[in-house]
Amino acid sequence: MKNAILIVITLCLFTNIHAQKFEGLALTPPMGWNSWNTFQTKIDEDLVKQTADAMVSSGMRDAGYQYIVLDDGWMAMERDSAGNLVPDPKKFPHGMKALIDYVHSKGLKFGLYNCAGTKTCAGYPGTRGYEYQDARFYAHLGIDYLKFDWCFSQGLNAKEAYTTMSKALKAAGRPIVFSLCEWGQNKAWEWAENVGQLWRTTGDISAIFAGYVDHGTWRQNGVMSIVDLQKGLRKYAGPGHWNDPDMLEVGNGMTVGEDRAHFSLWCMLAAPLIAGNDLRKMSETTKEILTNKEVIAVDQDKMGVEGFVFKTVDSVEIFAKPLSGDDWAICFVNRSRESKMVNFNWRDELIEDTIFHHVLDASKDVYKVRDLWKKSNLGDTQKPLKLSVGSYDALMFRLSKK
Ligand code: GLA
Repeated sequence: MKNAILIVITLCLFTNIHAQKFEGLALTPPMGWNSWNTFQTKIDEDLVKQTADAMVSSGMRDAGYQYIVLDDGWMAMERDSAGNLVPDPKKFPHGMKALIDYVHSKGLKFGLYNCAGTKTCAGYPGTRGYEYQDARFYAHLGIDYLKFDWCFSQGLNAKEAYTTMSKALKAAGRPIVFSLCEWGQNKAWEWAENVGQLWRTTGDISAIFAGYVDHGTWRQNGVMSIVDLQKGLRKYAGPGHWNDPDMLEVGNGMTVGEDRAHFSLWCMLAAPLIAGNDLRKMSETTKEILTNKEVIAVDQDKMGVEGFVFKTVDSVEIFAKPLSGDDWAICFVNRSRESKMVNFNWRDELIEDTIFHHVLDASKDVYKVRDLWKKSNLGDTQKPLKLSVGSYDALMFRLSKK
């Protein structure tokens, strides 16, 4: 009898812990588009429809991009008399539901943004105190993704606030990917595995490659500043629970090399790939970067292991990512202001993932080498790699056992 009671208690505990978030979502890093990086609060239904159309016509949907996410600015300034959120009727004259149906009709998914605090960062109604009501509202609208921010959150405990919203989403009954955005201030990676599917690890990104933009009270990080802040976090990520180094700035003003390095690194980090550019008027080059399926396959690898810095040689940082089927992705990022020669003798390098236990030993096994940006085969690891890499640019390879 005692034993039976113990089993029941254990089962209850187990169910509680594991029933917290929707399981089976975002088994690979989510891919999509978000309005913030280019449009801030200047968003409306035409933008969403045109973006959904462009996602299809550009080939992005076929490359794996799925979610169209409206960030801050989609609401009216006040809730209605029943306390419900109100999509801004001027920006969305046909209503949010019709817009979501449109996005769904294109074979895409739809996401919205709100905030754990009393207001969103741009001053619209926040969710604090309305978690269950808002979750029911989202489920009724039919959204698939919720980004949940951390402005006006004074006095809140992050773990509790995000857990409450996670439970509210679960109770509302619709599978919605839950994207935590507390900027790494409360180390979400330590507690959010069962709360959401992804969590921001840093403050906001900016479309610069190195350094950061200083706004006085807050900083916007360049690509490499964000990458440096990922150190030590890879052990927390895996299928269904990802580190989020923020949305992409590809196509937002950096050079082609910088965009290529940025995209390569996000894929090496198994990061969510949420485009942040204007899809309606992107250049061919931007489109080619965003839709490079072989590079995307590194990000979307089903094993879900985040890459790591293997070593740095003369300002060229070498990243390695174990892939399923014993493959590896290797990326050389030139952080200096001059182009560099990469001289890499595969057979002299033992690349070890000491956390997830994978080894690349080209002195024992021979691997084919594929250049993922040139989309060409480079022979195998018996031949040392000798290639030049431009300043603020990257080379990326996939190694497969022969
Ligand atoms: C915060 C988030 C951004 C964006 C804005 C919206 O800064 O980190 O990604 O959502 O709020 O106001």
